[in-house]
Amino acid sequence: HLIWPSKSTESDHLLRLQERAMWIALKCVDLEVVVVDLNVSRIAAWNSDKLPIYEPGLDEVVKACRGRNLFFSTDVKKHVAEADIVFVSVNTPTKTRGVGAGKAADLTYWEGAARMIASVSTSSKIIVEKSTVPVKTAEAIEKVLRCNCTSASVRFDILSNPEFLAEGTAVADLANPDRVLIGGKGGPAGRAAIEELAAVYARWVPQDRILRTSLWSAELSKLTANAMLAQRISSMNSISALCETTGADVQEVAHSIGKDSRIGPKFLNASVGFGGSCFQKDILNLVYICETLGLKEVADYWHAVITMNDYQKQRFVERIITSMFNTISRKNIAIYGFAFKKDTGDTRETPAIDVCHGLVADGAHCVIYDPQVGADQVHRDLATPKFEWDHPSRGQAAIAGRDEIKVVKDPYTAAHGAHAICVLTEWDEFAHYDYQKIYDNMVKPAFIFDGRNVLDHAELRKIGFIVYALGKPL
Ligand code: UGA
Repeated sequence: HLIWPSKSTESDHLLRLQERAMWIALKCVDLEVVVVDLNVSRIAAWNSDKLPIYEPGLDEVVKACRGRNLFFSTDVKKHVAEADIVFVSVNTPTKTRGVGAGKAADLTYWEGAARMIASVSTSSKIIVEKSTVPVKTAEAIEKVLRCNCTSASVRFDILSNPEFLAEGTAVADLANPDRVLIGGKGGPAGRAAIEELAAVYARWVPQDRILRTSLWSAELSKLTANAMLAQRISSMNSISALCETTGADVQEVAHSIGKDSRIGPKFLNASVGFGGSCFQKDILNLVYICETLGLKEVADYWHAVITMNDYQKQRFVERIITSMFNTISRKNIAIYGFAFKKDTGDTRETPAIDVCHGLVADGAHCVIYDPQVGADQVHRDLATPKFEWDHPSRGQAAIAGRDEIKVVKDPYTAAHGAHAICVLTEWDEFAHYDYQKIYDNMVKPAFIFDGRNVLDHAELRKIGFIVYALGKPL
């Protein structure tokens, strides 16, 4: 009997963590999995035909086990009390105020969940950290659990089981993970708890991919994995700037270095910048931990990954402005893609937010099209201060429609009368439009700024577009 509480689930991130629960339900018919959440509308959505997130393949998973051994409920306390294993996937946003604001993780929700679990528990449980948490959180949580439980016979074993799935490929990542990581305490009880969770995963994951570590190693591995992945992108993005000034081609460089088996070909795509709920948050977290431990050089090293990402977004905007004759004032710019990556409707920390802010600050009018992101979401994102999106309990920013920002439902309308098109997400469909038709309806000269290098640049130039591709010669 596993349960999956998450509090204040306005955030998509938590819903992503819940996908893991659904996969466990699919693979372990003999286990009862209950996803619990205080948010009534989210639970209603999980129980409906229109799931609260877009993720290829997820509908089928939910349909296969909902009502069989997968349930969604708002009765958090009842199900926590009954559970043997509790996966906690509450929000761990970046603090926006107080000590460590802008860097440290806010553990308010985690602590609240631990207090609630302690207060309702009458039987022993394994508590699994699913949220990304700063190193040594488990220690603090254990204290909260121990000190707030009224029954002396109840025992809590804490495990860290970080999630490595990526959005857009979640179902494949769940089905065939590179590894499952379970961190726990030493001693017979700690090891038994690790094995109990390992036995759940072993139903579909080969034993050699189930890694057992200490609690702290598991927590730190999650932060390190995301920091390393983001670092690869920032490294390539830094080279893209060099390519643009030297005439080298960043895709050729990526291909060449990726052939070195020590480097490998994945995650070397230069882009307008990485986004998503995790990379920036986790790196800032790592930086904060290092700072508080007096490791300034280590903190500076990892912070440079964020600095480079911010530079890349700003550089992209500056390139648009300088190439369009140093002014974009009152020019219409079509934005293709607002999600932080393809195959998701998620916009958290998407580079599109900073790019649109930059363009509008210089007087441009942005007309946005994204296959999965609607007008309300775009306006909310552009009105929400940095990091606030991850603090749902403080209420959402007002959805203020702004004159300089329009959101449309198809790419041809977006580009109609535009001076330029900016590609900010790598959606496959962007490569397949009728660009002659698009060109015919644009103001001339018609510019394309490909922030993801997904279009056929030679073909576009033949049509007459002036094409600026990221890290490529003109
Ligand atoms: C990331 C990690 O890849 C997952 O392993 C991890 O579990 C997850 O964060 C998390 O901590 O929850 P995700 O944010 O869903 O997953 O998406 P990624 O595929 O990692 O992409 C992140 C950003 O990097 C996107 O904006 C993407 O467009 C960008 N990116 C990715 C590049 O700019 N270049 C690349 O070569 C790859």
